Amino acid sequence: MIERTFVMLKPDTVQRNLVGEILSRFERRGLKIVAMKLIWLDRNKAQELYSLHQGKDFYEPLINYVTSGPSVVCVIEGYEAIKAVRNMLGSTNPIDSNAGSIRGDYGLFTRRNVVHASDSLETAKREIELFFDESEIVEYTKADEKWVYES
Ligand code: CMP
Repeated sequence: MIERTFVMLKPDTVQRNLVGEILSRFERRGLKIVAMKLIWLDRNKAQELYSLHQGKDFYEPLINYVTSGPSVVCVIEGYEAIKAVRNMLGSTNPIDSNAGSIRGDYGLFTRRNVVHASDSLETAKREIELFFDESEIVEYTKADEKWVYES
């Protein structure tokens, strides 16, 4: 099934000049960026995004981390995009991530784990709506699609 997922390149990604590198991995996989913007999350937005983690010991450091500088937020579309992107990310703790995954290649520390992506269809819907109006999501066809998918 063609799905949309929410992806956030966190402030460490922007500061470490890894935005292009990481986006190109999604592009090369055959996934399609259908919305994207650079934003500096305020505390309210960060708290909404991570409401599930409220009360956990890492919650405050997490909110501080994701509000510490600009992030790039995207909607990425493709076949089983939620699973595809989560697998590309690796484990939450970069040390447990295989080399070749994004966190396995670019991260060392859970509280600086480079990228966030939705973990289910419901979460993706909620997170996309939190950051994007429907009018900001662009439907288009890419020239390589017939080579990525069998029609
Ligand atoms: P993310 O995929 O964005 O989802 C929740 C985030 O909380 C996670 O990545 C990490 O940035 C952060 N976090 C920090 N410590 C932990 C922890 N012990 N377990 C899970 N997530 C953590």
